[in-house]
Amino acid sequence: MEVIILPDAAAVGLAAAKVIAKQLRNNPRSVLGLATGSSPIPLYAELVRMHREEGLDFSKATSFNLDEYVGLAPDHPQSYRHFMQVNLFDHVNIPPAHTHVPDGMAEDIPAACAAYEKGIAKAGGIDVQVLGIGANGHIGFNEPSSSLRSRTRFKTLTEKTCRDNARFFDSVNEVPRYCVTMGIGTILESRQCLMIATGGNKADAVAAMVEGPLSAMCPASALQLHTAAKVFVDEAAAAKLTYTSYYRWVHNSRPDWQRD
Ligand code: GLP
Repeated sequence: MEVIILPDAAAVGLAAAKVIAKQLRNNPRSVLGLATGSSPIPLYAELVRMHREEGLDFSKATSFNLDEYVGLAPDHPQSYRHFMQVNLFDHVNIPPAHTHVPDGMAEDIPAACAAYEKGIAKAGGIDVQVLGIGANGHIGFNEPSSSLRSRTRFKTLTEKTCRDNARFFDSVNEVPRYCVTMGIGTILESRQCLMIATGGNKADAVAAMVEGPLSAMCPASALQLHTAAKVFVDEAAAAKLTYTSYYRWVHNSRPDWQRD
């Protein structure tokens, strides 16, 4: 894992956006794996700016989101489809038909999950997967104890995740208990992973992901198996890492061909 420690959430968003922009410029037909939550909001804001001011082109890109709540319609203000429209899709030129978010309203959820996996494969696989991390180490909605080989499927959220996400709802009772999420196996097949973690409430999870044992109890630790995972963290989220001087040394002494 390449750990990049930056001063704050804004710097993390800028750095992550540069990776996506480079990917899109190298291959306009890129397949992007996208995430929701507050962590990627600065990244999406910067991509929107790059589209408006620098002509960053999404017209040939395709996207697959990580997850969705079961039972929330696409236009529900807390659905992840709605989040993506408001924070990114409505402001760039990605064709609506190229954007995919798991269907939390599907009548046959296992069939919809299988179709989602097929859709990713048909698109050629995910080039860059954006990820956030839950305070309990989840990625997508792969909660602790998720199989490290899991595929897109129905999951039950932990009580902690329901409580953590209750801030977006009127009360914790309104938070759906179920979701559909890409699996850890699905995520690990992406060609590149881009983890974004900011804020002190992520410090334990970040330390477990990067320096803890590979364990289903910290789903994000599965990124230790990925050959191209970049972890962008701010100082607060990096606070419980122990090898920080090495990560900074690696980043600051990287050769020119690894720089933007
Ligand atoms: C949700 C999402 C995750 C996200 C996590 C952290 O549970 N399913 O994909 O990474 O929240 O969210 P935040 O960035 O708001 O802390």
